[in-house]
Amino acid sequence: MDKGTSDKTVDTLTQDEAASELMRLSAVLQAANLAYHTDDDPEIDDATYDRLKRRNIEIEARFPDLMREDSPSKMVGAAPAEGFSKVTHAVAMLSLSNAFDQEDVSEFDQRIRKYLGFDANTPLAYTAEPKIDGLSLSLRYEEGRLVQAATRGDGAVGENVTANALTIDDVPTQITGAPEVLEVRGEVYMSHADFEALNARQTAAGAKPFANPRNAAAGSLRQLDSKITKSRPLKFFAYAWGALSEPLADTQMAAIDRLKELGFSTNPLTELCDGPNDLLSHYAKIEERRATLGYDIDGVVYKVNDLALQNRLGFRSTTPRWAIAHKFAAELAWTWLEGIDIQVGRTGALSPVARLKPVTVGGVVVSNATLHNEDYIKGFDSKGGQIRQGKDIRVGDFVQVYRAGDVIPKVADVDLSRRPSDSQEFVFPDTCPECGSDALREPGDAVRRCTGGLICPAQAVEKLKHFVARGAFDIDGLGAKQVEQFYADGWIAEPADIFTLRDRFGSGMQQLKNREGWGDKSATKLFDAIDDKRRIPLDRLLFALGIRHVGDAASSLIALHYGTWDALIKAMDDAVDQTGAAWDDLIGVDGVGAVMAGSLISAFAQPRERASITRLVDALEVQPVKRADTSGSPVAGKTVVFTGTLEKMTRAEAKARAERMGAKVAGSVSAKTDILVAGPGAGSKAKKAAALGVDILDEDGWLDMIAGA
Ligand code: IVH
Repeated sequence: MDKGTSDKTVDTLTQDEAASELMRLSAVLQAANLAYHTDDDPEIDDATYDRLKRRNIEIEARFPDLMREDSPSKMVGAAPAEGFSKVTHAVAMLSLSNAFDQEDVSEFDQRIRKYLGFDANTPLAYTAEPKIDGLSLSLRYEEGRLVQAATRGDGAVGENVTANALTIDDVPTQITGAPEVLEVRGEVYMSHADFEALNARQTAAGAKPFANPRNAAAGSLRQLDSKITKSRPLKFFAYAWGALSEPLADTQMAAIDRLKELGFSTNPLTELCDGPNDLLSHYAKIEERRATLGYDIDGVVYKVNDLALQNRLGFRSTTPRWAIAHKFAAELAWTWLEGIDIQVGRTGALSPVARLKPVTVGGVVVSNATLHNEDYIKGFDSKGGQIRQGKDIRVGDFVQVYRAGDVIPKVADVDLSRRPSDSQEFVFPDTCPECGSDALREPGDAVRRCTGGLICPAQAVEKLKHFVARGAFDIDGLGAKQVEQFYADGWIAEPADIFTLRDRFGSGMQQLKNREGWGDKSATKLFDAIDDKRRIPLDRLLFALGIRHVGDAASSLIALHYGTWDALIKAMDDAVDQTGAAWDDLIGVDGVGAVMAGSLISAFAQPRERASITRLVDALEVQPVKRADTSGSPVAGKTVVFTGTLEKMTRAEAKARAERMGAKVAGSVSAKTDILVAGPGAGSKAKKAAALGVDILDEDGWLDMIAGA
């Protein structure tokens, strides 16, 4: 491995050289730290370690602004890193939306054509390539050197696994002829042969074997000791990119070829296709070869080939519009249903779970499957239609189980010929199995819910687990297991209690220390991690509250709309009657419907829940939402209306682009309108705008106005 320094003396380094050297030093020293603490054979000797650390300090002294978040000088002494440092992705790592059948694929093509304003005859090429079942990795190269490797994490922030990525043969440490900054993205995976061999070694050593190659790859990449990663044969396919100082090519296909030329492994089954029919035949070809590829794939990914079009299409909140994953059909197996348990979720939903005689489905041992709700067990869907030809599910049945990708296994069918003669219809409970409260089913709700609220221990614990989960407060060292323990021990009953733990335990922390696995140090560390999260962005806080129907994406949109906690609370109070301006404003937020709005409002209106939220927020510093930086945008804050025919872009595209630049797009002209973009055929709106003295632009005028911003 490169030792991370150049031969230049510190006083002759340019700013760029210094930045890139600091990055390398951080990776090298972090790797050395890990190696030092986890095995007896450190990779670099003490003298070199000290020299590199000194050099790092000297460079930082000359360029204080370049001091990195993960700077080695911030590492406390030589304390072992107990986790990976965090990396904020320069360009978010997104996921893909899914297609499950031919119709979904043709709709994907039609959606794109509509967005771009292409008719059915306009040529539109796609690439098709296997969807590798591994985990994604982003590799950052600067001036041809690998300076950082990061996992996807939550898409915005991942883990710094540079030391581990350096052990993967398919990951070049040095490349030539690349753009100055190049982030290569792809999938880390393990071949079937390597997986079998690893599991044989695990078993021989008395360790638990991995359930499948993907878990083995993820477990291996996320080792704190890079020596262990090195002993695990990981592979890498490059298929995408993040930040770039200059474009790689004009098309997806050419960009992949370029990555190949630069020395990355790219998938040989990547092909250029003319349209949906061509995509489907390549899908069939890949599916046919699936069993003999030697590594797991779970579908085929289609991407618009022309990168300029990809750019126009852009992204929804978490997925690109220009790509889709066409998944393979689920894998199936038959087994016995040994029991039906009822679990109580965070919103009180009673969920039936099938306890199965363990069976292998697509390489994974399955012993539980979801049964959704009581109608599903009876053989009906939510609209009263039959499923499984109306066959009910009973304990003792022989059932067919399926798994698709990562999803929870499901029960697809029942073999009535093997049903025991004394079997009984399943009776769904009408009281909560956890707290005994009534479990009611409201009209229109497929789910029966416990009415116990926070007195129901299951609901309280599930709410707390959600609160600390990834995407919510994500507190280091406080996961589902700890929350269960703390709840059972009576230390936390609601989220606010998490933030008083340190005070309540004082310096003695006797109780916590009496618990296995907790010492002064670990308790202090936990309390520090909790304090770290007192400053929390509004969208995360809202999501963490776990309000029914208010998920991740909705939380972001709502937070963006209201901006601050105070504004949000005021709006919720004003909208409590579900009529009037505040209510209209709420349901006018993109993605918020009446059901979600009702749920949101009642969460804040119920006195007990409100008091609990207030106690929590009093312990926090809620960060207003950072809006995208549109300060350079000439249309930021302006209200724009589009009318008439647009010729260079579709309405949807125009709206998305205007919003991205900080403008608000309205449907009708009013005194609040700043700009009317009028294409041919504009009628009454143009007249009204003229009467109100609103700026009127044609499409070209609008494009000129936003050009370059
Ligand atoms: S493209 C912006 N191509 O699938 C789109 N992803 O379900 C970036 N994956 O997070 C993804 N094989 O980890 C792409 N050939 C492929 C892929 C692939 C596997 C993974 C990737 C992504 C996930 C989305």
